[in-house]
Amino acid sequence: MAADRTAPLFLPCAGGAEALLAEEIARLLPGLRLDAQRGGVALHADIIDTMRLNLESRLAQRVLVEVAEGAYRDEDDLYALARTVDWTRWLTPRETLKVDTTAQRSPLRSLNFAALRIKDAVCDALREASGERPSVDTHRPDLPLLLHLGSERATLYVDTSGAPLFKRGWREDKGDAPLKETLAAAMLAAAGWRGTAHEGGALHDPCCGSGTIAIEAAQIACGIAPGLRRRFAFERLAPFTAPAVRAAWQRLKDEAVQRAHASAVPIFASDVSFRMVDFARRNAERAGVAEAIRFNGGDALERPAPELPAALPGTLMVNPPYGERIDPKGSRAPRADAALHAGDGAQRQAADDFFPRLAAHWKRAYTQHPAGWTAWVLSPDMKLPGRMRLKEARRVPMWNGPIECRLFRFDLVAGSMRGDR
Ligand SMILES: C[S@@+](CC[C@H](N)C(=O)[O-])C[C@H]1O[C@@H](n2cnc3c(N)ncnc32)[C@H](O)[C@@H]1O
Repeated sequence: MAADRTAPLFLPCAGGAEALLAEEIARLLPGLRLDAQRGGVALHADIIDTMRLNLESRLAQRVLVEVAEGAYRDEDDLYALARTVDWTRWLTPRETLKVDTTAQRSPLRSLNFAALRIKDAVCDALREASGERPSVDTHRPDLPLLLHLGSERATLYVDTSGAPLFKRGWREDKGDAPLKETLAAAMLAAAGWRGTAHEGGALHDPCCGSGTIAIEAAQIACGIAPGLRRRFAFERLAPFTAPAVRAAWQRLKDEAVQRAHASAVPIFASDVSFRMVDFARRNAERAGVAEAIRFNGGDALERPAPELPAALPGTLMVNPPYGERIDPKGSRAPRADAALHAGDGAQRQAADDFFPRLAAHWKRAYTQHPAGWTAWVLSPDMKLPGRMRLKEARRVPMWNGPIECRLFRFDLVAGSMRGDR
C-alpha cells in the first residue's frame, strides 16, 4: 500500500448489515464507489482513508487490504499467489506474522495447511531478500494476514485492524450474552437512530445488560469515534509508519477528539440485575459517555416509561433475555431453590410469559406519549410478534454470529395490540 495510491479494501460485517455498512462508508468517505457484497463491502481507498475507516466505522468488523487474488486448485497455487506480493514492503525478518483462513466451499481439506503455505511464501520471500526469516506469533503478530478461500479463487488480505473492530476497548465488564458492539451499532443504524431529536429521539434499553446498545448510542449522540480508545495493527505496519502517514493519523485522532460534544437527546438504560447496571455504568465511564446515559435498576415489565418532553419521540431498543429462565417478576432465576420448588416446566412457562407481559406493559406505559415511542426488538424467534400480540411494522434480517435473527419494529400507539382490535 503506497501513500499516494489507492488499494482494494474489503470490510467484512455481520450478515444483514452490508447495506447499512455501505451507507456508513458513504457518509464517512463521500464519493467513493462502493460494492456491497455478501458479508461486507468492497471499495478502493488510500492509506489515510484506510486509517479513517478503522477509527470511525461502527459496523465493519475489520479493514482488510487485498494484496493478492487469483484462481487456485491446491496449496501450491496458494504459495505461488502469495509469492506475487512484495513482502519486504510489509515487514522485516525481525517482525512476526500470522495467517488466518476463512473458506466458503473450498475444495481443500486442511485450512491449516493452506495457511502454512502462505506463511512459507512470506518467509521464503524475506529469506531470499535478506537472508533471514520472520517468525510466527499467533497472539500479537506485527503482520496479521487473512486468506479467504472460495470454491475456485483465493484472496489474500493484510488485516489493518488486528483485534476485530467490535473490540472498542471499553467493555471490560460483561454479562452472560453480550451483544457485539458492531451488532448493537447495526441495530441502531437499521432503526435510523442517529442521536438527534429528528432521527430517533430519546433512546431507552430496558434490558441493558452490560450496556452495549446504550453506550454505542451515546457515543453516536456525542460524536465519539468508536476506535478512539484502542490500537490497530496498522500502527506497526511499515507503510503506515512513514512520518507523513503518522502525522496524518495523529490529525485524524485529534479531529475526532475535538468533534465530541454533549448528547442532544436523553439516553436511558436499565436492567433488573443491579450487578448488570453497575457493569454498564463502569463500561460507560470507560467509553467516555457516563454523563450521557441515565442508568437505573428495575424490571422491564414494571418500570414506567422515561419522561420525555412532549415533542420528543422515543426509541426503545432491546436485545431481550432469550432462552433464559425468567421468573414471573422478571428477575432471572437460575437459583437452586427456585428450580427445586418451581421445577423446569414452571420456569419455562414464566419465560414464555415474558414477551406478552412486556408488550402489555408497553401498551400501558408507552402509548400515552404525544410524540410516540417506537420499539425495536432483536430476536431469533420469527414468531415473536404473534407471541407479543403486536403487529410488526418492519422485520429486518440480522445475524447475531451464527444465529439468524430479526430486528422487529413495533409502533407503540394506543390500540396497537392485536387483542385490542
Ligand atoms: C441478552 S441480555 C442483554 C445483553 C446486552 N444487550 C449486552 O450487550 O450486554 C438480557 C438482559 O436482560 C436482563 N433482564 C432479564 N429479565 C429482565 C426484566 N424483567 N427486566 C429488565 N431486565 C431483564 C438480564 O439481566 C440481561 O442483562
